[in-house]
Amino acid sequence: MDVVPNYPAATALQRLENTPREIKYEPHLDSALDYETLNENVKKVQYAVRGELYLRASELQKEGKKIIFTNVGNPHALGQKPLTFPRQVVALCQAPFLLDDPNVGLLFPADAIARAKHYLSLTSGGLGAYSDSRGIPGVRKEVAEFIERRDGYPSDPELIFLTDGASKGVMQILNCIIRGQGDGILVPVPQYPLYSATISLLGGSLVPYYLEESANWGLDIDNLRESVAQARFKGITVRAMVIINPGNPTGQCLSEANLREILNFCYQENLVLLGDEVYQQNIYQDERPFISARKVLMDMGAPISKEVQLVSFHTVSKGYWGECGQRGGYFEMTNLPPQTVDEIYKIASIALSPNVPAQIFMGLMVNPLKPGDISYEQFVRESQGILESLRRRARLMTDGFNSCKNVVCNFTEGAMYSFPQIRLPPKAIEAAKKAGKVPDVFYCLKLLEATGISTVPGSGFGQKEGVFHLRTTILPAEEDMPAIMSSFKKFNDEFMDQYENNWNHSRM
Ligand SMILES: Cc1ncc(COP(=O)(O)O)c(C=O)c1O
Repeated sequence: MDVVPNYPAATALQRLENTPREIKYEPHLDSALDYETLNENVKKVQYAVRGELYLRASELQKEGKKIIFTNVGNPHALGQKPLTFPRQVVALCQAPFLLDDPNVGLLFPADAIARAKHYLSLTSGGLGAYSDSRGIPGVRKEVAEFIERRDGYPSDPELIFLTDGASKGVMQILNCIIRGQGDGILVPVPQYPLYSATISLLGGSLVPYYLEESANWGLDIDNLRESVAQARFKGITVRAMVIINPGNPTGQCLSEANLREILNFCYQENLVLLGDEVYQQNIYQDERPFISARKVLMDMGAPISKEVQLVSFHTVSKGYWGECGQRGGYFEMTNLPPQTVDEIYKIASIALSPNVPAQIFMGLMVNPLKPGDISYEQFVRESQGILESLRRRARLMTDGFNSCKNVVCNFTEGAMYSFPQIRLPPKAIEAAKKAGKVPDVFYCLKLLEATGISTVPGSGFGQKEGVFHLRTTILPAEEDMPAIMSSFKKFNDEFMDQYENNWNHSRM
């Protein structure tokens, strides 16, 4: 008697052979999607932003508790209103029959109508049709023109790919770089978990470089050298370096001098630089305006400007747009060989096309209204209103944290987050251990239960041994901010009193 595995192809083969035999089916032992047999890399992925704290917060919300979700930089979820003009344009693109309605001019301004017609003319069949896998050529041209205006150097639309949010672009590029466990990617710590999670998923090695909290989360090149040396000692080939500028979760803005050092370092070490610049509009100080890695690279001249490979990422999810749900992003490649660009195109083609409505948002973001356009003033009023309020909220939060017992917080220079250090007394650490929790998770859970404020423990982003943080967005509505900060202070100071008991410490 033959034993055949339990799948129809075997039966078909038997029929083909035309040799009637008695068949006994074996029970399924290990299906590919049984937990035990899943791809181990999938199980290794950790993603704190939607981890234990988020799950507990969701449970509490179901039980009727008011939760202030500050775990994800998702502005519209916290009440930010969409900008009017881009939504008008995309609404018309989604419902092109409105353009034929004689009353369209009563509901939509002429510049929105004109822009919708412009984008529809760039598509091959409207928003319901796939686009080229790299994105609509006309939108990629608008992105290239934006980059040229921003940096003062020409950009080639053929080297720009539109993506479903910056995340997908980062994943595509890391996928092309990582060949296995021996390939290392330098990632800033604290870091945004997209990087650690994707590197785990792809089976590569994360090589951490620590940002210096006492230097306003600055990047020290000697630290970087040390990290590369240690990785090499372990047999890892360091292939690329990630920078997040402005930083998430740390909020710092890199100076031009710092960017030069980084690019020099990449040149010397032959590293691809991955420039995550999704927060380039979110700047809350005037000393260090945003400067792109690409501009600094070009300013440095040959041979560096001709040789360092750079991939830069941007999105419609951040800035004053905050259109996270639309999933629009792009990456631009500099100094990559044409054959590599072709391979990346091939891989992008597997998913056929990035989300087409999001490509229109990207076009609108990089090619905004100009003075004199009918909707210009409203657009400026709305966008400036959002940015100015974010700037005030960044200040309110930092000051609020710094007024709390055993809490120190660098000012949020950019991005959307505050990352205060929480000096946990030894007794609190002991209590956390007894409860089977990492100390910052313990603190954040207690904060959630007491106040409804849902944060992410610093351990989800990486931090130095024995040092604890939490991350919160600066996105709650400005009018709610004083109440949120005073409820945080009340909880924190009571928590510290409870566990402190004559414990003394320095503030940093
Ligand atoms: C540093 C950083 N990079 C990338 C992303 C992903 O953005 P997107 O919504 O475009 O995928 C985020 C989102 O919060 C982020 O903070």
